[in-house]
Parts: sequence; structure tokens; C-alpha cells
Amino acid sequence: MAEEEQKLADEVVEKEEEEDDGGPTHNPETGAKYFRMSEVATHNIINSLWIVIDNKVYDITNFTLEHPGGEEILFEQGGQDASVPFEDVGHSSDAREMMRQYFIGEVHPKDHKAKEAKGWGRGSSSGSGGDASSQRGWFSQILFGMGLSLVGIAMYKAIF
Ligand code: HEM
Repeated sequence: MAEEEQKLADEVVEKEEEEDDGGPTHNPETGAKYFRMSEVATHNIINSLWIVIDNKVYDITNFTLEHPGGEEILFEQGGQDASVPFEDVGHSSDAREMMRQYFIGEVHPKDHKAKEAKGWGRGSSSGSGGDASSQRGWFSQILFGMGLSLVGIAMYKAIF
């Protein structure tokens, strides 16, 4: 009975803590701790190196020497979101499995990047910049094709 009361009291304390700084401190679904990007940004030194990939926070302080891609590149990315460079390298599934051991929490939802900022694929995001440039891409391709056809016709006429 006393244990139950203690549990209840603990829950109340947890709730109060959450309400204190105006947001949840943990992901209610996964139980993972939330970190603000401002905190992540302070861990960009050799003795404490964190990176964010896909809104997940990794403490890679003890991984830098082991990293097959070298430690320098990790120091460059320290304290920030490295999702795009991480994906650009095309890391293997082994690498993704390996990084799980360095997982320490998730980025607070308030600091999640907008989908378009990830830059993979076109997606259905509202960013009109990507759409406009892809439209320009199509237009210039059509123009290029028409130009080539005209040159082809002109050459054909000149020869025959
Ligand atoms: C916890 C995070 C990371 C882990 C566990 C990890 C692991 C690995 C592993 C296992 C490889 C060997 C190739 C492979 O299996 O894919 C690799 C290569 C590499 N990684 Fe990472 N990596 C991490 C983060 C990063 C980040 C943030 C960058 C920044 C750009 C990066 C850049 C590279 C590069 C440039 C290579 C060499 C690729 C090559 O030689 O072809 N890695 N990494």
C-alpha cells in the first residue's frame, strides 16, 4: 500500500516537473528523454560530442576514434543536426545498427526541423522553392530537346 502511495507521489512530482518548463521532458510513446537543440549545441567538444540524426540524439564521444570515416568529420558535425551529411555518405545498415548504442534521447518536438529542410526527395511539403526549380528543370529540358531536333532537321536538310 505504502509503495503504491509512493508511486503515485512520484508520478505527481514527474508531472509537476514536466509542467515547470512548459513542455514534456520525455517522449510519452518511446520513453526517450527530450533534448533541446540549444543543449545539443553545447556538446561540440572532444570531451563531449553529440550529433542529431533524424531527430535522435547520439553521444558519439567514445566513437570518434573508431569511426571508419575518420574523427575529423564527426567533430565538424558535433553539436548539430547531421542528418543530411549522414545520409549523403550512404551509410550501411551496419553503421545504422552501430549508432543505436550511442542513442541518448530525442530532439524536443519544438526543435524538430521542418520536413522540407531534410532535403531528401520532393515530398509533399509546402516549400515552393523546390517545386519551382524542378519546374524550371523540366522547362529547360524541353527547350533543349526542341533545340536538338531543330539542329537535327537543319543538318538533314543541308545534307540531303
Ligand atoms: C553515430 C553515427 C555514425 C556511425 C555509427 C557511423 C558509422 C560509419 C561506418 C560503419 C562507416 C563505414 C562504411 C559503412 O559501413 O557505411 C562510416 C563511414 C563514413 N562515415 Fe560515418 N558514422 C556515423 C556518423 C557519421 C557522420 C555524422 C558523418 C558526417 C558526414 C559520417 C561520415 C562518414 C564518411 C565520410 C565515411 C566514409 C565513407 C567511405 O569511405 O566511403 N559518419 N561511418
